[in-house]
Amino acid sequence: MTLIERLRRRAAERDAAHSRRSRHVQSQRSGMLAECDGKSLINFSSNDYLGFAQHPDVIAAFQQAAARDGVGSAGSALVTGHFAVHHELEQQAAALFGYEAALFTGSGYLANLGILQAVLDDESVCVQDKYNHACLLDGARFSGADLKRYPHADMVQAEARCAEAKTDTLFLVSDGVFSMDGDAADLKALHAIAERHRATLMIDDAHGVGVLGESGLGSAQAAGLRAADVPILVVPAGKALGGQGALILAQRDIIQHLLETARPYLFSTAPAPAMAAALSAALHLLEAQPQHHARLQENIRHFRIRVETAGLPMLDSHTAIQPLMAGDNERALQWSAQLRDAGFWVSAIRPPTVPQGKSRLRITLTALHTKAQIDALVQVLAEITGGHDGHG
Ligand SMILES: Cc1ncc(COP(=O)(O)O)c(C=O)c1O
Repeated sequence: MTLIERLRRRAAERDAAHSRRSRHVQSQRSGMLAECDGKSLINFSSNDYLGFAQHPDVIAAFQQAAARDGVGSAGSALVTGHFAVHHELEQQAAALFGYEAALFTGSGYLANLGILQAVLDDESVCVQDKYNHACLLDGARFSGADLKRYPHADMVQAEARCAEAKTDTLFLVSDGVFSMDGDAADLKALHAIAERHRATLMIDDAHGVGVLGESGLGSAQAAGLRAADVPILVVPAGKALGGQGALILAQRDIIQHLLETARPYLFSTAPAPAMAAALSAALHLLEAQPQHHARLQENIRHFRIRVETAGLPMLDSHTAIQPLMAGDNERALQWSAQLRDAGFWVSAIRPPTVPQGKSRLRITLTALHTKAQIDALVQVLAEITGGHDGHG
């Protein structure tokens, strides 16, 4: 069989399982209004939780830096690609989150691969929640470490996996907020387990920063933990910060080790200087303008009240990620298409992103949604789900 024949056969299998994927072309956006494949829709699947991707200060910082520094960095950070704006962003992020140092990488995926490859080897053990993001699992696998996964949110099993590990290099790694379920990890418990078993706790807070914590600093702040309690914090910048890339926060020795040895950092062009400038502006907004975080929180509260009143089978989430369980792929796709017909953009999430039989709509809320848009969404959700309980 030729390669093309083999690929077509695989595509036909995905067709039969309702698991084909395609991209939608977004040609315009204004707030949460998007022109998508030529149709005007209200976007309820964006990760721009605080609206910073479109904030005038962030756009202006990007434009000014591009005018000054050009577009591409034209080099990896260790050769010629590390600009003053990269340096300033790292210092600003370290100070804001209370860490000694930071490293700005091209994406969250690269950050997690880089960290785990650089610090773990085949004598290490990496304990992870089963629902951790793919790049944390991939990073542990590529590192050669013994990857031990515990059932989602099961702290007893997490402790057992740590207790049985016989290694000098034990990592306990978790999402701060789980990207497909929207629930928050029990960071206090994870920290206590890490302390008891001398594990290094590493948290990826892609969906916690800007969302949780009194001033939006994320899951650790919400759990009352200090920087010293979470020795490695990863903040992917493509969600609430509205940009691209990721900030790794840690002690200076760890950051120095990563910048000298993390292969995805060494062997990749540094992010655009303008992106660093835009993220500096976004971090400044996070600190100086609490109204964005407050508006997001208000929208989450409003949505939860409305869906509870409507009796919708939502997962128990108090973050910006609000999944509505469909069960099988076909139903998730059908609901997503019906929402589209009614003017809403809500993506259907299916395996392998989520386990078999747990397909869902992944609704996300942002500071830019209006209450009227949320009310209209809930009304259509109630109509299309028609009391279905979402469990198969
Ligand atoms: C929890 C989590 N970590 C990491 C990533 C990857 O970050 P990036 O998109 O910057 O590669 C994502 C999503 O994209 C995520 O949800």
